[in-house]
Amino acid sequence: MLYYYATAITIIMVKKRKKRQKEKRYFMRFPKEFYWGTSMSAHQVEGQNIFNDWWEWEQRGKILNRQVSGDACKHYDMYREDFKMMKSMHHSMHRLSIEWSRIEQTEGQFNTSEINHYRKVLKELKKQGITPMVTLFHFTLPHWFAKQGAFLHPDGRKKFIRYVRRVVQELGDLVDYWVTINEPYVYTNFGYWEGLWPPGKHSLFKFRKVLKELLHTHIDAYQTIKKVYKENDWTAPEVGFAKSFVWFDPQKKNSIMSRAVSVMYQYLYNKLFFRPFYTGRYPLLFGFGKLHDAKKSLDFVGMNYYFRCACHFSAFKSPLHMRLRTNTSVERTLFNWEVFPKGLYRLLKITYRKIKKPIFITENGISTLDDTQRISYIVRHLEAIHRAMREGVDVRGYLYWSFIDNFEWAEGYTQPFGLVGMNHRTFERIPKPSSQVYAAICKTGKITDSIIDKYAKGIKDRILK
Ligand code: BGC
Repeated sequence: MLYYYATAITIIMVKKRKKRQKEKRYFMRFPKEFYWGTSMSAHQVEGQNIFNDWWEWEQRGKILNRQVSGDACKHYDMYREDFKMMKSMHHSMHRLSIEWSRIEQTEGQFNTSEINHYRKVLKELKKQGITPMVTLFHFTLPHWFAKQGAFLHPDGRKKFIRYVRRVVQELGDLVDYWVTINEPYVYTNFGYWEGLWPPGKHSLFKFRKVLKELLHTHIDAYQTIKKVYKENDWTAPEVGFAKSFVWFDPQKKNSIMSRAVSVMYQYLYNKLFFRPFYTGRYPLLFGFGKLHDAKKSLDFVGMNYYFRCACHFSAFKSPLHMRLRTNTSVERTLFNWEVFPKGLYRLLKITYRKIKKPIFITENGISTLDDTQRISYIVRHLEAIHRAMREGVDVRGYLYWSFIDNFEWAEGYTQPFGLVGMNHRTFERIPKPSSQVYAAICKTGKITDSIIDKYAKGIKDRILK
C-alpha cells in the first residue's frame, strides 16, 4: 500500500516539476543597467520639416500614393506628452535625431531658436529620467546642402562637420551617447544606386564614392565630438554609428551560385562599411591601404536589425539578385520582410567576435496591423539578444523601432511600426497592447510567464514558435 502511495506521489511531483520547468521557459533576466526604450528620427515624427531634401522629394510626388510627411506626428510640438508616455512605460533611453535643416536653414547661419528647441527637448527627456541617444544624420539633409551635391561636393564633409561642431557645442552637456550617421549603406544604396530616395541616382560609381566619403565623415565627426567635450571639460561621451544589418541566406541551399550571392551580400551589406573599424584598413571596394584612425573611432556599435533576405543568382535579371522571401510558409511583416530572430542572434555573435565593443540594438521592430504579432516579434528578438548575452556578447540596450506609427520614407504612412498608434486627424496617441507588454519588460528587466500570461494570453503558442 505504502509502495503505491509513494509511487503516486512521485508521479505527481515529477509531473508538477515538468510543468514548472515548462512554465519557466520564459524566464529571462536582463542586467539592471540594461537600457530599454525606443528609436525615432526627426523627419519621421516632427512634422513640417520644410527645409530638407525629403520635403522637396515628397512635393515631387515620389512617395507611395503621393503622400507627404506634412505634420507627421506633430512630435515637434507634442514631445512633452510623448516623453511622459515613454516614462509611464518605464523606458530608460530614447534615440532621437537632430534635424540639420532646422538648425542651419541657410548655409552658415545657425538658428538659435531651433537650437534652443532641441535643448528643451533634451532637458525634458532628462527630466523624465530618460537617457537620450542623439543621431546627427538620419537620412535628411538641408536643401541647400543637397543642391550642392551633398557628400559628393568637395567640401561636403567639411560643411557637415561644421554643423556637428556647432550642435555638440550647444547640446553636448546634455548628451552622453551620439550616433553620427544612421545606416550609411541604406542611405547610399537607396539614394545613389537604386534611386528610390533623394537624390534619385542610379550610379554604382557615385554609390561607392558617397559610401567611402561617409566612412571618413564618421571618423571626422567622432574626433570632432571628442574634441569639443575635451575643450569644455565635459565627461567624454560614447560615440558610434547605427548600422543596418540583414541576415542573408541562399534561396536554394544546394545551388552554389545562390550561396555565392548570399556570401557576397553578407560581405557587401554587413561588413563592407564596418570592417575598417576592426581591421584598420580600407575594405576591398574602397581600395587598398591603411585607415588607422578607424580603429580608434568607435565606442559602440549601433545595430539595426529587422529581417532575413534570400539571395539567388539569375542570369536574366540582375545577376546578383536579392529578394525578400516569397515562400508563403515563412512569417512576414506588412512590409513583406521575413521575421527571423535567429539572424539577430547570429549577427550579434559574429559582430562582437570581430569588434569586441559594446553593442546597442538601436533599431528592431515590425510593421504590422496585428499587434499580437508585434508582441511575439519583440519577445522572440529579445530572446535572441538574451541568448547572445548569455554567450558573452556585450549588449547594452534595446531600442524598439518605433515609439509611434510614423512617416515611413518612400512608403509614407502605410507601415505601422509603432507601439503607439495615432489618430491622423486629432494626433491623439493610442497605445497598443504591445506597449503594455513592453512596458512590463522594461519595468522589471525580465520576461516571465506571468508577464506573457497577463498581457499576451492566448498568443503564447505564437511566441513559442
Ligand atoms: C531606418 C528608419 C526606418 C526603419 C523601418 C531603418 O532603416 O533607420 O528610419 O523607418 O528602418 O524601415
